[in-house]
Amino acid sequence: MSTVGVFPDLTPEEAAALIPHGATVAFSGFTNSGAAKLIPRAIAAQARALHEKGEPYQIRVLTGASTSESIDEPLAEAEAISWRAPYQSAPRLRRQINSETVEYVDMHLSALSQTLLAGFHGRLNFAVVEATEVTPDGRVYLTTSIGASPAYLKCADYVFIEINQFHSKRLREMADILILPPPPHRVRVPLHDPMTKIGMPFAEVDPRRIMGIIENNEPDRVAPFTSGDARSRKIAEHVLNFLLGELWAKRIPREFLPLQAGVGNVANAVMSVLGESPEIPPFKMYTEVFQDSLVDLMEAGKLTGASTTSLTLTPESLQRIYDNMDFYAPRIVLRPQEISNHAGVVLRLGVIAMNTALEVDIYGNVNSSHIFGTDVMNGVGGSGEFTRNGYLSIYMCPSIAKGGKISSIVPMCPHIDNNEHSVQIVVTEQGLVDLRGLGPMQRATAIIENCAHPAYRDYLYRYIEKARVGHIRHDLETCYELHLNLMEQGAMLPDLDLSGIADG
Ligand code: COA
Repeated sequence: MSTVGVFPDLTPEEAAALIPHGATVAFSGFTNSGAAKLIPRAIAAQARALHEKGEPYQIRVLTGASTSESIDEPLAEAEAISWRAPYQSAPRLRRQINSETVEYVDMHLSALSQTLLAGFHGRLNFAVVEATEVTPDGRVYLTTSIGASPAYLKCADYVFIEINQFHSKRLREMADILILPPPPHRVRVPLHDPMTKIGMPFAEVDPRRIMGIIENNEPDRVAPFTSGDARSRKIAEHVLNFLLGELWAKRIPREFLPLQAGVGNVANAVMSVLGESPEIPPFKMYTEVFQDSLVDLMEAGKLTGASTTSLTLTPESLQRIYDNMDFYAPRIVLRPQEISNHAGVVLRLGVIAMNTALEVDIYGNVNSSHIFGTDVMNGVGGSGEFTRNGYLSIYMCPSIAKGGKISSIVPMCPHIDNNEHSVQIVVTEQGLVDLRGLGPMQRATAIIENCAHPAYRDYLYRYIEKARVGHIRHDLETCYELHLNLMEQGAMLPDLDLSGIADG
């Protein structure tokens, strides 16, 4: 019997053997943080063994968000996934999705719990959730992410718990968990400050559904972020100057507004630059991922509090938090992704949203997810709820990619995740454009002049000059010429001399 003396102890292999081909399985994990670890690997091994015998074995997989090394990669390597939602960022799984061997449902992260509980995705057969403790009456104390685990625990037919001793039991002091009732009984989420707590420190499960406990002691596989390159730093400086201008113009109040930042190099550079600026007052975050750069900001007193759904931290940074829980526990709130990304709360708090694009068109429509409109990179993630509802919605990306073969500013995006009605500010290392109050032609000229790489400006100007006149000028015959060139000839402007173009 397990440490709690109530639920059976299982090996990962015994647990995997209970999960049949075709099952829908929800795993904890928002990024690799708090991800189930042992059972996914055992399922992958089981799939490989069955495939070798010529037997089919694939499951439908849900998580909170991307869980590359912990779940997506091992399962994809074993060709064990038939269907996946709501977000991924694993190279092997990406290839399987783009070759149409895996069905991928790319969805807004805050929508997951409600759609699952309402039955939109069918029956959830199994939940596999990492926790620091489960009590005999079914209180589950989660680890470094909350994600959608409370919903998974609520509606799965059968549950496995991976008890991970690596994590501090004091994580529960940060947790604030509730599940919103379904429409028409949905209630207002009474958050007026990122740090307010409105729920319980644990998720709940009917203990009769727990099939077993698996003991674990493995840290989250979160890789260190690379400190921003020169272009990321330039983007960050443009964002800093813009926010300072808004502060001086009193369009941002003196006490500042909560920030949301996507993940990755650019976001990290922005957070570092904002943190270093003495003119930016101490601020809070209402975001979905708490990453390494924020640990320094918190210790420096610049970041005074953060609401998030995951602690996406390298083991070293996480240890800094565990060693100093008296300091950190009152400053971080870990919420379900339905609340960390809640549209109404983002709107009410006046969040400043800062996310990253793959490409932006000359009118401010953003593609963050699908290259050529066909091949998924990662997915829309949480960008939609923050961008649509943010007080300020900022999009950032380098002006060129692949040594200049690609311009990130294009006439028309072949896929749009966030549109011109929501996107307000566009930033590249070239400069920043404030689109508020600008009509389409003003937007187009401002984006070309300030954000496009100089090597692509003439082409883009010619495009709008020749395009069909209307409220929004376009030429449907040539709007994807750059993309077609890239696809067919390997560069958006094949004759462009790239020798002087730095890609960083
Ligand atoms: N066309 C084709 N490829 C492009 C491109 C474009 N316009 N722009 C960039 N790329 C390529 C890069 O060259 C790079 O290729 P490589 O992996 O072969 O080196 C790859 O795409 C990734 O680009 P990079 O600049 O390293 O991306 P990133 O790590 O900064 O991530 C997104 C950018 C958009 C992919 C990422 O932020 C994302 O998935 N966003 C959507 C979800 C989201 O916003 N989450 C946070 C919200 S809370």
